[in-house]
Amino acid sequence: MNEKKIVILYGSQSGNSQDIAERIWRRTKTLNINSVVSSFDHFDLNNLFEKNLILVCVCSTTGQGDVPDNMTKFWKMIMRKSIPNDLFEGLDFFTIGLGDTSYEKFNFTAKKLHKRLIQLGASSPAEICLCDEQHPNGTEGAYSKWIQNFWKILENFFTFNTENPRPFIHKFRLEYPNQTSEKIIDLASPEPANEIKPFYSKLVKNERVTHKDHWQNVRLLEFDCNTERIKYDPGDVLVMRPSNTAQNVHKFLETFQHLNLNLEKPIKIVSNYPNEFELDNETDENLIKTIGDLVFNYLDLNSIPKQSFFEVFFQISQNELEKEKLEEFLTPEGQEDLFNYIYRPRRTIAEVFFDFPNTCKSITDLETLLDLIPAIKPRSFSIASSPHVHKDRIQLLVAVVEYKTRLYETRKGTCSYWLSQLDPNNEIKIPVWIKKGSFKIDFKKPLICVGPGTGVAPFRSLINERVFKYNLGDNHLYFGCRSKFKDFYFENEWKLIADSNHLFLHPAFSRDQEEKVYVQDLMLNNSDEIFDLIHNRESLILIAGNSKRMPEDILATLEKIIKQNSQNLGLDETDQEKIDEFAKKYVDGLALKNRLQMETWS
Ligand SMILES: Cc1cc2nc3c(=O)[nH]c(=O)nc-3n(C[C@H](O)[C@H](O)[C@H](O)COP(=O)(O)OP(=O)(O)OC[C@H]3O[C@@H](n4cnc5c(N)ncnc54)[C@H](O)[C@@H]3O)c2cc1C
Ligand SMILES: Cc1cc2nc3c(=O)[nH]c(=O)nc-3n(C[C@H](O)[C@H](O)[C@H](O)COP(=O)(O)O)c2cc1C
Repeated sequence: MNEKKIVILYGSQSGNSQDIAERIWRRTKTLNINSVVSSFDHFDLNNLFEKNLILVCVCSTTGQGDVPDNMTKFWKMIMRKSIPNDLFEGLDFFTIGLGDTSYEKFNFTAKKLHKRLIQLGASSPAEICLCDEQHPNGTEGAYSKWIQNFWKILENFFTFNTENPRPFIHKFRLEYPNQTSEKIIDLASPEPANEIKPFYSKLVKNERVTHKDHWQNVRLLEFDCNTERIKYDPGDVLVMRPSNTAQNVHKFLETFQHLNLNLEKPIKIVSNYPNEFELDNETDENLIKTIGDLVFNYLDLNSIPKQSFFEVFFQISQNELEKEKLEEFLTPEGQEDLFNYIYRPRRTIAEVFFDFPNTCKSITDLETLLDLIPAIKPRSFSIASSPHVHKDRIQLLVAVVEYKTRLYETRKGTCSYWLSQLDPNNEIKIPVWIKKGSFKIDFKKPLICVGPGTGVAPFRSLINERVFKYNLGDNHLYFGCRSKFKDFYFENEWKLIADSNHLFLHPAFSRDQEEKVYVQDLMLNNSDEIFDLIHNRESLILIAGNSKRMPEDILATLEKIIKQNSQNLGLDETDQEKIDEFAKKYVDGLALKNRLQMETWS
C-alpha cells in the first residue's frame, strides 16, 4: 500500500459531483491507493492537515451561483478572513467543477474554491477542470480528458500498476438479523428533525389546484407537523425523502425475479470501507429495516444512470453483445451514443435494466445492486403555509414533473409524481425535516415579492405571517401564471388580503389574451411605484421560482426600471453607457446588501 493518501471531497446537490468523486475513489481502490471519499461537510477537516495527503475537490454550483448544501459548513470555514494565509501550505490539490454555461455564474463554486486554496498556500499540479452541461457530451466532455491527465500526474506521487488492477470489493455487505428492530418513535426525540433523524409526518391533504383541463398538475399538500421537532419560519424549506412508486418497484422485481427477494426479510447494510466511505447520504436508521424498505425507500430506480452505473454494469456483464455495447458507452467515441441513449431521452435505471436483461441475470446479489444504484436523494420544497395561520400544519405547492421525450412512456419526476399518487386516507407518513431557506427577511421593510408559478409558495407563507401575525401592509406581490381560470393559486386568499388593504396584488396571466403578459411586464408598467419602493423606501425584493430564465429576466427588468428613473437619480440623460453601467451596479448593490434575494430551483 502506498504511504500517501488521497482524500476526495464532494459538494453535490443532485449527485453528479458525488458520482465523479466515487468513480475516482473506486479506481484508487483497484490501484491499491489509500483513499477516502466524503462530502465536504461530513469530513473531519482536522484530517486535512495530515502529511502526505492529496486532496481532490469535486463540486457543483447550484441556485444562482450558490454552493451545494453539503459543503456549506466547509465553505464558511474556508472563506473566513481570520484564517492564516499558510493554512494549507504543502497540500497538493485538484479541483473539478460541475456547472452549466447557461447560468450566469458558471462554475462559481469550483473557481472560487480553487483560488481560495491557492491563497491559503496549497498548490495544484493540474489546471482546474471546468465541466459544462452544455458541452455536446455533457459533463463528461471536459472531465474525460482531464481525468486521464490526473492519473498520469498521480504517477509522480504513487506507485501503481494500471495494467493489473485489483477487483473492486462491494461498497456494502448485507447482514441478515433474525428480527427487524423496532421503529424508533419520533415524538420521543426532542431534537429538531434532520436527515438522520427525520420526523415521520402524516400526509393529511393532497389536492389538485390547477383546473382539470390544464396541462399541468399542481398540488397543494398538507402535512401534520404537531411536534416540537418541526418548527419553521416563513421562507424555510421542507426537505423530504421520497420513495419509489409501486410501478417502478414492480418493474424492478420482475427484472430481478431470479434473486427471489423476500421483501419482508430483515436486513442491515454495513459498509465494507467504514473509514473511507459512508452509506450514501447519512441515512436514517428507520429507513432500511427490510429488503422491501431497501427496494422501496433507498434504491433510486427512477434516476437517470450516471457514468459510474455503466462502469459497474459493464464489469458485471457476461453477455457478449451487451458487454460490447456497454464498453462502447465508456469510450470517448461512445459518448455521443450514450448521450442519445440516456441523457437526451432521460432513460431511467429501471429502463436500462429492461434493455440489458442478460447482464441483469449476471447479478446474483443485492450487494452488486448497491454498487450500481444510487440512493434516492432528498427533495426540497418551499413551505407555502404560515406558522401563525396554519398551526401544526405544513403546506406545500408542488408542480408534478411529467414530460415527454422520444420514449413512449411519459417521464415522471421521482418525488413530485410519487407525492401526487399518495392518498391521505392511507395514513401515509413521510420522513421530513426543515432547512433554513435562502431569504433573510427584515419584517420592518416593505416587501416586493416576485413569484411566478409555484414560486409563489414562500410568499404565501411570508405574506400570511406579515398580515395575520404582525398586521403589516406594504406587501406587493407579482404573481404569474398561464390563466386566471386554470392556475391562479390561492386566488381567493389573495383577494381577501388585498381587500383588507394589506396587499397590492399584480397577477400576470400569460395566455388569457393574444399578447403574452409576464410578471416583468407588470413590473415595468409599475416602474414608478417600484422605483419609489426600492429607492426611497428601502424595500426588500424577493424572487422565487424557476432558476432558468426567470431570475435573469427580473434582474434585467429591475435594471430597466432604474434606467427609466435616471433623471430622478441625477444622471446625465445623454450618456446611455453611463446609465447602463449605473443601473447594473445599482441592482448588484441591492443584492450585496441583501435587499434583493432569490430562492430558485429547476
Ligand atoms: C429550495 C428549493 C425549493 C423548492 N420549492 C419547490 C416548490 O415550492 N414547489 C415545487 O414544485 N418544487 C420546488 N422545488 C423543486 C423540487 O425540489 C424538485 O426538484 C421538483 O419537485 C422535481 O423533483 P422530482 O423528484 O419530482 O423530479 P426529478 O426526478 O428530480 O426530475 C426533475 C428533473 O427532470 C428534468 N426535467 C423536468 N422537466 C423536464 C422537461 N420538460 N424536459 C426535460 N427534462 C425535464 C430536469 O432535469 C429536472 O431537474 C424546490 C427546490 C429547491 C431546491
Ligand atoms: C437549480 C439549479 C441551479 C444551477 N445553478 C448553476 C449556476 O449558477 N452555475 C453553474 O455553473 N451551474 C449551475 N447549475 C448546473 C449544475 O451545477 C450542474 O447541473 C451539475 O451537474 C450539478 O451537479 P450536482 O448534482 O453535483 O449538484 C444549476 C443546476 C440546477 C439544477
